[in-house]
Amino acid sequence: MRRAAVLTSSDTGYTGEREDISGKVICEILEREGYQIVYQKILPDDRALLGAEMARIADEDIADLLLTTGGTGFSKRDVTPEATEDVCERMVPGIPEAMRICSMQVTKRGMLSRQAAGIRKGTLIINLPGSPKAVRECLEYIIEPLGHGIDILRGDSSNCGG
Ligand code: MTE
Repeated sequence: MRRAAVLTSSDTGYTGEREDISGKVICEILEREGYQIVYQKILPDDRALLGAEMARIADEDIADLLLTTGGTGFSKRDVTPEATEDVCERMVPGIPEAMRICSMQVTKRGMLSRQAAGIRKGTLIINLPGSPKAVRECLEYIIEPLGHGIDILRGDSSNCGG
């Protein structure tokens, strides 16, 4: 079973002022797709904290897939993509490109999400936007091919013929 971690980046979620609905939406989709949720956490929009936690999840081999939500926009506190780039060894630009293509069919504001994706050790890290609606739209669009990528990353598959 593929293992997934969910990390929410939100100052107000961290202090309990706002309920983390986006994190729940991610878990619901992942469980439906057969992933085991092994980790879920809310952190403030802090580049160093977010990066350190992403690196820990990869370095301690806690999850095969780490999905983040929030902090991808233009607010001064939005730093999730920078934290992701800080810790990834190899970037995977095709995944955010695909999400932005999908998002812009729904709203032109999709271009405002600076979401990134990359690999650290055996963990694939992907940023999703912050709203539950955007999370659902983006994750539903990318979820199917992710399994194949994760299997190759983990060395469980080398066959791209399917
Ligand atoms: N993507 C999809 N699919 N649907 C949306 O409604 N909202 C956009 C964008 N991506 C949206 C979307 C908006 S309005 C913003 S500001 C950015 O995501 C950044 O969101 P974040 O700062 O909450 O991560």
